[in-house]
This record gives sequence, C-alpha cells and structure tokens, in this order.
Amino acid sequence: MAYLLGIDLGTSGLKTVLFDENGAEIASASAEYPLYVPAGGMAEQDAEDWWRAACDTVRETVARAGIAPESIAGVGLSGQMHGVVPLGADAKPLRRAIIWCDQRSGAQCEEMTALVGRDRLVAITANPAITGFSASKILWLRENEPETFEKIRHILLPKDYLRLRLTGEFATEVSDASGTQLLDVPHRCWSGELLAALELPREWFPDVYESPVISGRVSREAAALTGLAPGTPVAGGAGDQAAGAVGLGIVRPGLMSSTIGSSGVVFAHTGSPRIDARGRVHTFCHAVPGAWHVMGVTQAAGLSLRWFRDEFCAAERETAAALGCDPYILMDDEAARIAPGAEGVFYLPYMNGERTPHLDPDARAVFFGMNASHTRAHLLRAVMEGVVYSLRDSYEILGELGLSVDTVRVAGGGAKSGLWRQMQADMFGVPAARMNVAEAPALGAAVLAGVGAGIYASVPEACDRVVLPRDRVMPDPDAAAVYARHYPLYRALYEALREPYRTLAALS
Ligand code: XUL
Repeated sequence: MAYLLGIDLGTSGLKTVLFDENGAEIASASAEYPLYVPAGGMAEQDAEDWWRAACDTVRETVARAGIAPESIAGVGLSGQMHGVVPLGADAKPLRRAIIWCDQRSGAQCEEMTALVGRDRLVAITANPAITGFSASKILWLRENEPETFEKIRHILLPKDYLRLRLTGEFATEVSDASGTQLLDVPHRCWSGELLAALELPREWFPDVYESPVISGRVSREAAALTGLAPGTPVAGGAGDQAAGAVGLGIVRPGLMSSTIGSSGVVFAHTGSPRIDARGRVHTFCHAVPGAWHVMGVTQAAGLSLRWFRDEFCAAERETAAALGCDPYILMDDEAARIAPGAEGVFYLPYMNGERTPHLDPDARAVFFGMNASHTRAHLLRAVMEGVVYSLRDSYEILGELGLSVDTVRVAGGGAKSGLWRQMQADMFGVPAARMNVAEAPALGAAVLAGVGAGIYASVPEACDRVVLPRDRVMPDPDAAAVYARHYPLYRALYEALREPYRTLAALS
C-alpha cells in the first residue's frame, strides 16, 4: 500500500494529513500561527511560521502513522491563495507575506485598471482588478516600500514557499497562479503583456506547471527537518479552493460544490474558460489539467456565525462546555425552531466587504426587518439564511454562465450543520450531498501527488476511487417557496445601501 501526504497551508493554521491510496486518513497533525494586522484592512503572516508548522506537523504525522517514510509515494501542497512572499537574492523573505484578505491595495487596483483597461484585464486574467489578488499588492510594495521592492528577486505564493523549502525549487502551478492576476488564464501561462504593462520582471516569477506534475523532490536538509525520505516527489498541488474541489470530486463538467468555511464558496468545474464579462465570479485554471473552474466567493460565511456565537451565545458556549459538545449544535437547534424566512428578519453578511456579486470592499453587515416580537433566535436564523442567500447569488451567476447542476456537494465546517445543509438544498432547489471527506484540501493535494507519482491514471479516475457520497438532503418545497419570495428583497437591500456604504466608508 502506498501512502500520500497532503499539506494544507491555511490562514489560521496548517494541517498535514497522511492518506492511503484509497483516500483513508491514516494520521494527521495541525499547528496554528499568528495573523498580523499592522493596520485596519491589512493582513500579514510570517513565511517562517508556515515552514515551522509544516516541519512540525509532517514530522508528527509520519511518527503517528508509524510507517516507513519511504512508503510515502508523494507530497501534495494546498494553500491559501493570493499571498505575496517577496524573496531576496538569498531566497530569504524580505518582509512578512501580505496575504489574501489584505485590502490595502485599492489605489493600485485603480492604477492597474487605468493602465491595462478593465476589459483587457478581464480578457487576460478573467477578473477585474481585485484588492485581494497578488498583482496590486506587488504594486503597493513598489510604491510604499521601495527599499524592499529594490531587493526582490523572486515572488512566491504561500504554498510555493513551502515547496522551495522542501525541494529547493522555485515553482508554481496553474490554479494558484490564476489568483495572482498575472496569469493568462485562458492560455495557462504568465501574461507577457501584463508583466510588461506593470513593469514587473518575468524572472521574479517561477515556472508554472499543471497541478499534478512533480515539481521537485525532498532535499536532504528538508528530510532531516520533516522526517520525510530524501527524494520523495512533491507535486505542484493547488490553491486551497481547487485542491478542496479535487478532494470533493468536482473534477468533471456538471459538478458543483458549496463550501461554508470562514468564507463561502460556490465552485463549478468547466471544460472551457467561461468568463463573466462583469467580473462578478472568478474564472481560474483548475487543478485538473486542461480544465478551468468558476467560483463565487462570499467573504464572511462561517465568520458571520462565529461572530454571532462569540458575541451573543455565551450561554450556549457554557452549556456546550458542560456537555462536552460543540456550541454550534445548540445554536442549530435554536435556529431550527424559527420558521424559514426568520419572520421577516434579514441579514446581509458583508462583514469584510463583499466579492461576489458586488466586488465592494466598503459593504458592511446589516440586520434588517426587526420588530419587538423578534428574539435572538430570529437573528441567529437570519444570519444562517443571509449566508445562504449570498451563496445563492453565486449559484445564480454560475447558472447564467450555463453551469447548472442536479446536485450540489456541500462541504466545509458549515456542512456539519443539518440546518445549513437543508437551507442550501432549499435555496438552490437541488439536493445537497455530503461526501465521505473530512479534509478536502489536504485530500485534493494528496490526490494530485498520487497522479504525479503514477498511483492514479488521472485526477477524475483518482476521485472516482477515493471520493464517495455519504448522505444527501432533498429540497423542501414549502421552505423553498418562502426563500424564493424573500430573495428579491435580500437583493434589493444591497442596492439600497450601495451609496450609504460609500458614505459610511468616508465617515470612518
Ligand atoms: C480564494 C480565496 C480563499 C483564500 C484563503 O479566492 O481568497 O480561498 O485562498 O483561503
């Protein structure tokens, strides 16, 4: 039996999971690291923290599994996308990495748009200029930290920094490179036109591979630090969304997932690069060679519910601690006692601004429609419904692009909630299926390594073998009718608030 190792570099921590070739989880370990917020809207992490977490968790996982390191056929990397790790001539980080949720580069997005033109940007990168993506962050460095910018010789994405430390190779792959906004997404290569227009040297950026390709082998030095065998192949891997989609089997046309993590993502596979001319959803290269994916992102999905738990659910947290259960289970029961539609209370989940469909960094969360008869439980239900209305915004756009499905695969921490699974079935109007997968990005990364190492013939073939259905909920026609009546008002609320959001941003 061969084993495959998936390393998933997240925002709050890194998780390493060892799988056997049937996708069964053999052992895992995780480690957390800090997120630095030097000023409002900024978000940075130390690449050395990521590397330390990778070394510690890989060592721990291999030891827990009790297997010979030589039986690990390949290592796959999955990672938070869009981060910028600037390296000097000695390949050492010049400063902390600026990560995906950092919003400092609004002015640089405007500059990029003026320089290249919005339509041309969308044609090449499949997206309008977005603050979260890498390119505008690099321009921010040029304008605001020229002394650092001068010293840059390489720029890597977060998971590709781990690859450098593991193998000594500078490399990336198409799915993560798509989120830099410097890749020609239809042609799956760096865009010479964009690099020239933005005056960024091509040699700063590593070679781009298809995601299952073996991009390097574990060095002696990294082997000593991680417990892996020297020479173990390391595959390209994928950005966390594409890796997670592979882990859920979204690897053929006609398949779609809806994931509620901190953010919420509706993700569809497509055999051709379908681009929304209005730039409301992201089209990226998929980790399946020669395929693309389209995804809509709502910025604060699980994050909204976590905020509600932390600010308003002290009693549930205490009871859950006494019972030894998860407070979200008690919150689910409470929200389920309120009828669909939350008796007219709405929640807009725009705590961190919004990507799909509004691309509006100034948007903020809102409760709407309360009267004196409403209780905390109504607000709780409204939060859960608001997150799913927002996912429906993405679902509708994917439908407009011709990407409709007969079942949605639900995943992420949010899929543990029976109520949230039911809401997704009701609002999308199709069954919501759960797969037998707990750690989809790590499994996806491991599958890509398995394809690269020759354990599987292709990504779809691997997924047929390791990703199996677990259960499904069917839409409830009565609830679906209520949500269908409420959804237009949910949509109208953002339109009514668009200008007040500008005013609010100017005030603060
Ligand atoms: C994708 C995205 C997130 C980050 C962090 O566009 O922003 O998935 O990769 O998880």
